[in-house]
Amino acid sequence: MSPHQYAQQNHPRFLTELKELVSIPSVSTQPQHNADVQHAADWLTAKLEKIGMSAEQILMPKGRHPLVLGQWLEAGDEAPTVLIYGHYDVQPAEMADGWLTPPFEPTEKDGKLFGRGATDSKVNTMTQLKALESLLQTDGRLPVNVKFIIEGEEESGSENINAFLDAHGDRLNADYGVICDGGIVEPDQPSIVCGLRGIVTAELEVYGPSKDLHSGHYGGSIHNPIQALCEIIAQLHDENGRVTVPGFYDNVRDFSPLEREDLAQIDPYFNQEWDNVAGAPAHWGEIGYSAHERTGIRPTLEINGIAGGYAAEGFKTVLPATAHAKISCRLVANQDPVRIYQLLEKYINELTPDTVMIKLTECDMGASAYLIDMSSHAVKTARQAYETHWGVPAIPEMAGGSVPITAALDPFVSEIVAMGFAHKAGQPHGPNENIILRNYERAIATAITFLQTITKTG
Ligand code: BES
Ligand code: MN
Repeated sequence: MSPHQYAQQNHPRFLTELKELVSIPSVSTQPQHNADVQHAADWLTAKLEKIGMSAEQILMPKGRHPLVLGQWLEAGDEAPTVLIYGHYDVQPAEMADGWLTPPFEPTEKDGKLFGRGATDSKVNTMTQLKALESLLQTDGRLPVNVKFIIEGEEESGSENINAFLDAHGDRLNADYGVICDGGIVEPDQPSIVCGLRGIVTAELEVYGPSKDLHSGHYGGSIHNPIQALCEIIAQLHDENGRVTVPGFYDNVRDFSPLEREDLAQIDPYFNQEWDNVAGAPAHWGEIGYSAHERTGIRPTLEINGIAGGYAAEGFKTVLPATAHAKISCRLVANQDPVRIYQLLEKYINELTPDTVMIKLTECDMGASAYLIDMSSHAVKTARQAYETHWGVPAIPEMAGGSVPITAALDPFVSEIVAMGFAHKAGQPHGPNENIILRNYERAIATAITFLQTITKTG
């Protein structure tokens, strides 16, 4: 039996196992789920061992959740070594966020599977696991040497990934690095990621009076910290949708007209998906760029959360003592997260009036952007594999999101390729997250073909 036949015959069980993994609430940011995250790590470790790979868990000194490392290195020196990366942790999910079915009770409906983590990124991790199983169980071996790392802290910012690479990076050396996360633009139209954005995050705290005060007694005589905070963040963009932080765009890589034309192939699909999913009244962003370019080749600054004062039921006429905001910048190639944080810090200090005090803290989740070499052997092999199983060529896409390990992996592998199999409209991080069921089958077939066709030299 061929690996592809094995995958087809065993697909019902592969789906059952995906549901099992999705039912484990491996939310890495919420301590009440620590045991669940560990359960997911143990579940994956057992699966890797069962299919004939060695498996271990590595917990960094400051880590909260272990990395799972699976290996099979018996393909010989002539065969390439492929490092596959995935993550098993998920974002938080509550019914109250608008779920129609319980987020950790995977539910099939209309050809989709609903559940937190289905799209981001358990379908991707399971795809690789099942491709490896199909090859090992039929051929008794893999065509390549495989190192498979599955991270448990990606959704909380991969804050221990650099320490992990410092300590264990030499064990990860490989010819190819496969970032198995993200997805394709449309269920029937695969896309291939040619870049991922980096990220830097900060928390801004604005202090005014030493305590909450009566807004009648003191209002109008004190600069309200919420107002001051809003004044500061309102100045972080100009009327052209550009970030005003001086130096922010200094090293940003410009894309040539030819490169932009190539990237524009995705626009009809991208804009359709944007219309269907975003539900916003109108487009907004940096003038002169398409929605795909605004989220892919341009850096951005976002306010992720804002808090202060009294906003619960009823009214409290209060002049609050503090206000907070969470700010993140998505970065593109050539921007250094450390420098961008420094520029942001300097500018926010300049914008702060002497009527309030501020504290800006950098969060421990910075990562550089990464541009993938689209002419590499790994990318060509991946595109061919998608085309074989989807029947149409994969079109290039710049991912707006970040997988913090990507740029940090560069020193350990010769080529990096991203192979995601979810679909963008599958509501990653949102309510009713879902995957298209028939794509799980095509994904496994594509992953098998990739491993069968990747060679040591292109
Ligand atoms: N799967 C996403 C990132 C992604 C999106 C990759 C689209 C490829 C295509 C990943 O799980 C994610 O959400 N990353 C976070 C990282 C952050 C917490 C540092 C993100 O981008 O917000
Ligand atoms: Mn995610």
